[in-house]
Amino acid sequence: MYDYLEIKELNDRYHFGTYRRLPVLLVEGKGSRVRDNEGNEYLDLLGGIAVNALGHCHPKVVDAIQQQASKLIHCSNLYHIGPQAHLARLLLENCDMDRIFFCNSGTEAVEGAMKLSRKWASSHGRGGKIITMEGSFHGRSLAALTATGQRKYHEGMDPLPTGFATVPFNDIDAVKAIAGDDTCAVMVEPVQGEGGIRIASREYLKDLRDLCNERGILLVFDEIQCGMGRTGHLFAYQGFDVVPDIITIAKAMGGGFPIGAFLAREEIASSFQGGDHGSTFGGSPLASAAGLAAVSSIIEEGLPKRAKDLGVWAIQRLQKELGGSRIIKDIRGMGLMIGVELKRDGKEVEDMMFKRRMLINCTAGHVLRFLPPLNISREDLNEGLDAFIKCLKEVDRHE
Ligand SMILES: Cc1ncc(COP(=O)(O)O)c(C=O)c1O
Repeated sequence: MYDYLEIKELNDRYHFGTYRRLPVLLVEGKGSRVRDNEGNEYLDLLGGIAVNALGHCHPKVVDAIQQQASKLIHCSNLYHIGPQAHLARLLLENCDMDRIFFCNSGTEAVEGAMKLSRKWASSHGRGGKIITMEGSFHGRSLAALTATGQRKYHEGMDPLPTGFATVPFNDIDAVKAIAGDDTCAVMVEPVQGEGGIRIASREYLKDLRDLCNERGILLVFDEIQCGMGRTGHLFAYQGFDVVPDIITIAKAMGGGFPIGAFLAREEIASSFQGGDHGSTFGGSPLASAAGLAAVSSIIEEGLPKRAKDLGVWAIQRLQKELGGSRIIKDIRGMGLMIGVELKRDGKEVEDMMFKRRMLINCTAGHVLRFLPPLNISREDLNEGLDAFIKCLKEVDRHE
């Protein structure tokens, strides 16, 4: 049994000071509930930041990991890997892409997508500039953080890689103004996650598609947070009727086990040839077995549709009960990706919810973010919304 104070002391002493952790030591979870080391139960409305789409310890994922771990954990991509091939087929049969490359995280998926875009561009006589959006988040490697359209992540990291430009989100004219022969790709999150649950308009994504077609530029959708059923479709692009050229996924696709991927259409994927990209661990037998169990469960349990329906219901309830609040600027979302934007700092509300043993998170300074498991019961979600509405009314009263 772990002791909270001992663990906190070890973390404080040994870890880099990069994380601001809440004062709790989580030790087990089932469905949308997690427990700390003292047996206190929390309702998880954040799902490990969109990872636990199936809740905690989904039996099919646990079983797949246990079974695979007792057979073959790792073997290298020098050899054929059974569950990896099955996971590839499952994902590709459910979208418009033709080929997939497996890696270990969202950041790596973005790196791979950017490398592929540049490789494709180099054989098409184009430059390698990548255009991304203000407020975006694409990961923490040097290139992914340069692509990330938030200055705070760039500070102190100079010199940053070159060949990136950032423009305002949902503004097609801004892209038009700088997308030329020097550009290989435009990368966008259909719903920005870290940026504060900001949804791309359908018209904007359609215009981006048209512009990219006209100018011979690739369109990359980063679906690492909004994909895998969260916004109402297995792939987020399917809810916008716009097909990109490359898609990045990670987070929920492993049911909690680390795995990521980028997918592309054949004519783009073929730009990568033997040795152009690789990964020691990417799509290992264990990760792929977890991924296969997770993605097939998301599909078989009809979770995209469930996310859509529950999301509509939750957003309507929030709008109805909090619509008149003086501290709220906006309530928005798509499926079970929901943001409540305050006119003030939101950390206080995250803390108030935590005291009530409810896990949500404040992103972009003032947006309270809900990313619950897609299979959360309506009762659990309702309980979370009850607590949230009470917290906000309390803050509103003291305003
Ligand atoms: C849209 C998006 N892209 C990329 C990443 C980076 O993923 P990871 O933390 O797995 O490297 C994230 C993580 O939050 C994300 O939300």
